[in-house]
Amino acid sequence: MLNKLLFHHFPNIKSWLTRLQYEFVSTLNLKKDVLFMNFGYTSHHQGLEPIALAPEDEIHRYPMQLYHHVAKHIDWSNAAALEVSSGRGGGAHFIMNTFKPKSYTGVDFSTRAVDFCREQYGDIQGLDFHQGNAEALNFPDNSFDVVVNVEASLYYPNITKFYEHVRRVLKPNGYFLYTDLRYEEKVAIWHAQIKAMGLKVIKEEDITDNVLKAMEMDRERRMQLVDKYVPAILRKQFYHFAGLTPNSPNALPHLDNRRYWYFVLQKA
Ligand SMILES: C[S@@+](CC[C@H](N)C(=O)[O-])C[C@H]1O[C@@H](n2cnc3c(N)ncnc32)[C@H](O)[C@@H]1O
Repeated sequence: MLNKLLFHHFPNIKSWLTRLQYEFVSTLNLKKDVLFMNFGYTSHHQGLEPIALAPEDEIHRYPMQLYHHVAKHIDWSNAAALEVSSGRGGGAHFIMNTFKPKSYTGVDFSTRAVDFCREQYGDIQGLDFHQGNAEALNFPDNSFDVVVNVEASLYYPNITKFYEHVRRVLKPNGYFLYTDLRYEEKVAIWHAQIKAMGLKVIKEEDITDNVLKAMEMDRERRMQLVDKYVPAILRKQFYHFAGLTPNSPNALPHLDNRRYWYFVLQKA
């Protein structure tokens, strides 16, 4: 309730509190337990095969599947890609390994997250990370074939500035691969803002059920992570952060009446 109130009426305060939360997360010594910070995706309940993963990647299956779903609809050969809000770099690394773009640049405002990514993935050619703000991207016009953004734009106080930068840095025919969630009553406005970018809509899909199912499958692991790393006094807040019900983390996860959407957009 408080979260929703802040989101609707005080987006700057909400954004600032969220930054604090992410900065706090990056002070924890999460090591390789946490390489992703999204709610995940699955389509196994719709009869589709899960993606093949190396045994050591199994613990990241659901967040990896979200990146796979986001990335799979375009041709990545020879692409120069930018990910805005790359977090702890798991998605960047996964896309680099799986879809093999020519280069992949991750940007995040958390310096600690960027330091972690550089340490973790510094030896992978073509993959690099920088500190930066989604609303003030520091790259030349027409410089990327693909821009990726996963579960992060809900925290940007001025979303249209972000969209302007995405449009500006994309090359002609470049793709914007975008997924995020919004409170149900805000979805129509959000979609109108996306359409106002002037990019061609190649694909748009409500993936809420896939995300909820993934959260259900991944609930045990998320609970264990919160219990392992977060001091007891902050645990309730972090259960919420991890998509669990704060007073009853064994209950089925929910998205607080939010809908999760996925878009493929192309600059004409
Ligand atoms: C929910 S996490 C998602 C991270 C990553 N995309 C993933 O799926 O693992 C949101 C990320 O957005 C970043 N973030 C929030 N506001 C930002 C901004 N204005 N500019 C750049 N990054 C931002 C946070 O630091 C955090 O790493």
